[in-house]
Amino acid sequence: MADLMRPAWAAIDLAALQHNVKVIRKLAGGKRILAILKANAYGHGLQRIAQALSEIDAIGVARVDEALQLRNAGVTRPIVLLEGFFDASQIPVLAASNIQPVIHNLRQMKELSQVDQLGDTLKVWLKVDTGMHRLGLEPDQVVSAYQQLLDLPQVNDHPVVISHLACADEPEHPQNERQIALFASILEQLPPSSTSLVNSAALLAQLAPQYDWVRPGLALYGVSPFATKTGADHDLKAVMNLRASIISVRQIKAGEAVGYGGYWIASEDTYIGIVAIGYGDGYPRHAPEGTPILINGNIYPLVGRVAMDMVTVNLGRRLSVKLGDTAELWGAKLPVERVAEAVGTIPYELLCNVARRVQLDYQ
Ligand SMILES: Cc1ncc(COP(=O)(O)O)c(C=O)c1O
Repeated sequence: MADLMRPAWAAIDLAALQHNVKVIRKLAGGKRILAILKANAYGHGLQRIAQALSEIDAIGVARVDEALQLRNAGVTRPIVLLEGFFDASQIPVLAASNIQPVIHNLRQMKELSQVDQLGDTLKVWLKVDTGMHRLGLEPDQVVSAYQQLLDLPQVNDHPVVISHLACADEPEHPQNERQIALFASILEQLPPSSTSLVNSAALLAQLAPQYDWVRPGLALYGVSPFATKTGADHDLKAVMNLRASIISVRQIKAGEAVGYGGYWIASEDTYIGIVAIGYGDGYPRHAPEGTPILINGNIYPLVGRVAMDMVTVNLGRRLSVKLGDTAELWGAKLPVERVAEAVGTIPYELLCNVARRVQLDYQ
């Protein structure tokens, strides 16, 4: 058994990914899909996920280095840089690699207009702030910015006009209606253009017209953006199964303490399992007592402090777990949404934080 023991790994279920794409395609009703793969494809591995999504129309990332990593890996599909270029020096790099920046402020407009000797022209996306107040031009700047971009010799096509909803994960929130109406009124002032508004939550809730491009991130990975739901409620399947081996099982007497600080004290005689995963792997250090961990089909509570390489689990008085068994920290049988709820965070953070030392096994 010992030779089968491994520290933390994540089994990445590519069949589940393909299933989720089908569900998304149906919801998208024939619109094009910009798959959001930033932050290492939400922890699932940028390159392999991009390669697995070979039928997807385009890929969205947040950083130039993520886009270049994909180009270097031979990915030829359109890549959209969601925050655009951070500095004018990046513009020729984007043009040379056919990476499409989102233009979201006047500084980027100016830098783009001033760059010369661009060997290749750029396709750009134009972001308008309809109420999130994070990125995007003001609604009254959009018409002239759109025209300026059209007139620039550096730009080769009509910009795709996009915005982002602040409250799509709360479908009843009045902010959604306001943003959707404002986006529609801005589009009325522009020549017919390609457009994009919805993320996973807006798509799953069918909150707004899909426009020409839908932009799912979380749903691709089989996870629900809604606080009270899991992916299964939308017929989605979890892609990441985060696992680790039980590397020690020990008997603890009532009154004995476990782990750093000794703050968890057994109230009765019990067995404790030591799982080979910790905050060094991205498992949240602040996970409280009772955070669920699945072993052999049963949920056990985490006890004691999360350490860098280990967590401790209360296996109870009657032992049905042995050294070398596998624990699931989240995945198909223990939704990451439930773990996020126990930890007081969102599933996005848990997935993105999975550390590079966690081996990704593609299945
Ligand atoms: C502009 C934009 N569109 C789409 C998404 C995808 O969001 P989600 O993962 O909620 O589908 C993101 C992610 O943050 C984003 O920044």
